[in-house]
Amino acid sequence: MPCRTVILISGSGSNLQAFIDACNNRTLDADLCAVISNRPDAAGLQRASEAGIAARALDHRSFASREAFDQALKALIDEFSPELVILAGFMRILGADFVRHFRGRLLNIHPSLLPKYPGLHTHRRAIEAGDREAGATVHFVTEELDGGPPILQAKVPVMADDSPELLASRVLEQEHRIYPVAAQWFAENRLTLQGNRAELDGIQLPETGFAFQELQTSAGHLA
Ligand code: GAR
Repeated sequence: MPCRTVILISGSGSNLQAFIDACNNRTLDADLCAVISNRPDAAGLQRASEAGIAARALDHRSFASREAFDQALKALIDEFSPELVILAGFMRILGADFVRHFRGRLLNIHPSLLPKYPGLHTHRRAIEAGDREAGATVHFVTEELDGGPPILQAKVPVMADDSPELLASRVLEQEHRIYPVAAQWFAENRLTLQGNRAELDGIQLPETGFAFQELQTSAGHLA
């Protein structure tokens, strides 16, 4: 059975598009039941509608508190009974209650090589620090912001004359490759959260997650 999946977005939804494409080309066995955005004008909602996926907006500005928004979001997601909830450029911090409710089935992608640069402006921070490489990390979401156990990480070089925008687009390309792969591991029941570590096939993943580059050399077809 395809893995029932709800995707949360706030913006362009290019990662959402990668999920739609992966389902279409059968590299991801998921049933994308709904896409929910906290921003009614998010371009990703249009992508969802075009793909025939239920597209919902839940505007965080119409709630009196963060907790009230979280509650409503939780209830809306639960209407679709998902096995997996995917944060794909969802730019709201989710509270402890929400995170606990979906623990073990809530994934995020963050545009840095976690644990480096949690939070915002990751590309600018990597360039300013003089880092030679940057990247993206898929991780389980826990109560610590961008601090949950990493699952899969892809690296890209930082160029001498890089701008945050150029680096962001290089990283985004990798995001589109790694996120559906991690979701497919989950769909195949290979990926679990055990305590505070991610496990693949019952084996603890490294602290920075599986290195996507290694995956590509060991199984060229995934590249
Ligand atoms: C992606 O780069 C994603 O990693 C980032 O937002 C972008 C969304 O792009 N997420 C975060 O920064 C979360 N902390 P998309 O809407 O085109 O998928």
